[in-house]
Amino acid sequence: MQRNNNKPALVTGSTSGIGLAIAHTLARGGHPVMLHGLADPQSGARLQREFADSYGVSCGFSDADITTEGGCQQLVAETREALGNTAILVNNAGIQFTAAAHEFPAEQWHRIIAVNLSAAFFLARDVIPDMRAEGWGRVVNVASVHGMVASANKAAYCAAKHGLVGLTKVLALENADSGITANAICPGWVETPLIQPQIDAIASTEGITGDEARARLVGEKQPMPRTTHPEAIGALTLYLCGEFADTLTGATLPVDGGWTAQ
Ligand SMILES: NC(=O)c1ccc[n+]([C@@H]2O[C@H](COP(=O)([O-])OP(=O)(O)OC[C@H]3O[C@@H](n4cnc5c(N)ncnc54)[C@H](O)[C@@H]3O)[C@@H](O)[C@H]2O)c1
Repeated sequence: MQRNNNKPALVTGSTSGIGLAIAHTLARGGHPVMLHGLADPQSGARLQREFADSYGVSCGFSDADITTEGGCQQLVAETREALGNTAILVNNAGIQFTAAAHEFPAEQWHRIIAVNLSAAFFLARDVIPDMRAEGWGRVVNVASVHGMVASANKAAYCAAKHGLVGLTKVLALENADSGITANAICPGWVETPLIQPQIDAIASTEGITGDEARARLVGEKQPMPRTTHPEAIGALTLYLCGEFADTLTGATLPVDGGWTAQ
């Protein structure tokens, strides 16, 4: 078995939530990590130092805005400069906006498709040639249960996440001959800042506390009525990058308290 614990990893959206947990897990596992997200340069530099000190691995930071193809190219270039070629690409950055499809603002639609779907395509397109040349690579796409099933008021998010699951399968097929795997992780509710606006909205409409609103939000969809810890997604990502996941490719992996089992 080949051990892969020193491969450079680019984790998009790793200044917060799930991406930050994935970055911690990979760095703790020995991987050099490119941190990325919309943070100011000082907090980016602080995070980078914290990682280097805690884990003794090389780290970089980029605040490239990945809503455009140019932003994605900038991120790949900055990663190459900081750590060398990307061997592990974790497409995690994502945003949310909720409204009925017939009231959905065009700019929110374009923004969600750009960050949650197109960026994953542009980044994969730009790093896969290096992975193919190396004969090893991992693409981990953080999709969502909304890449498998739908919810009302999430037209752009569901379209983007279903698209991301489709993209994952194509990448798995195209690169099956080159030691590269591509998989989609599909979380249900995970305790991060992304879900807070939805909790706040329920609390204010129903006149209930934040904890009651969280329980209602999660329990509406998940037979197991509790949120997943971001670290659980980190651990699964590390597994996908490890020596026992060589043939695990093209998969859609729910971590959702039974949401999609229904
Ligand atoms: N939290 C959940 O319950 C949940 C459930 C299923 C899937 N997900 C998915 O997990 C991923 C991470 O979500 P989270 O809850 O940790 O979110 P979060 O809001 O905590 O973090 C999002 C990250 O993406 C970055 N980002 C956003 N827009 C960007 C842009 N234009 N350019 C560069 N970076 C940008 C932010 O800076 C941040 O680092 C997302 O793709 C989300 O859809 C989350």
